[in-house]
Amino acid sequence: MQKHLLEVENLYAYYGKAEILRNVNIHVKEGESVAVLGPNGAGKTTLLKSICGLVETKGKILFNGMEISGLRPHERIKLGIAISPEGRRLFPEMSVEDNLLLAGNGEKLEFVYDLFPNLKEKRRQLAKNMSGGEQQMIAIARALMLEPKLLLLDEPSMGLAPIVVETIAEAIEKIREELDLSILIVEQNTQMAFDVADRAYVLASGEVVKEGEIGSLEGIERDYFS
Ligand SMILES: Nc1ncnc2c1ncn2[C@@H]1O[C@H](COP(=O)(O)OP(=O)(O)OP(=O)(O)O)[C@@H](O)[C@H]1O
Ligand SMILES: [Mg+2]
Repeated sequence: MQKHLLEVENLYAYYGKAEILRNVNIHVKEGESVAVLGPNGAGKTTLLKSICGLVETKGKILFNGMEISGLRPHERIKLGIAISPEGRRLFPEMSVEDNLLLAGNGEKLEFVYDLFPNLKEKRRQLAKNMSGGEQQMIAIARALMLEPKLLLLDEPSMGLAPIVVETIAEAIEKIREELDLSILIVEQNTQMAFDVADRAYVLASGEVVKEGEIGSLEGIERDYFS
């Protein structure tokens, strides 16, 4: 049986007094790609931030069987958790390469350039002059510079045309094929999630309202997103 890499149990998350997540239970097995779907404000980003140690939480977060709720964000990164955040959060006035180097050294740079040669080609360009799809690739590549065991992706399709979303989905597939890692991807774009994930959870108003294999989730947009 595949080992669980991430286990989130009875998780609650708070911004001040506001309770944003309630009794969330999710897991990601080794090598698995899992999606969290849900409408605006469902708490998807808050879930990823909880895993990274960026919000106040109650409940258990186990990584490789170890309780990490008490660890600082940088300690979680060291254990192998990396995120491509919502909105990409690049440094627009810095080059593609300098954005990547913020996350690691030259050796790792070669590794992400091998994976994505088009970023190598454009490494001297300023991040702000790259297309939306390329900027998303930089954000993902920057996370990969940390050589994570668990890659968290927060709405990689956001703001991208359908054809570009396909390119990003292909890149995520390539990452899955070539690297030994697990993926937890948050999306509103169900097609993107269906393309890259094995299983999904649906989050609505801070609670998991449905879960299952991708094939069993037809119609969730109609049921939960409107
Ligand atoms: N820093 C914050 N302080 C207070 N409330 C917040 C903060 N960040 C988010 N929230 C609230 O928490 C809830 C969940 O937000 P979150 O960003 O996790 O949703 P989301 O599912 O990622 O939405 P989206 O799809 O729009 O990115 C929302 O009601 C939001 O207003
Ligand atoms: Mg969000």
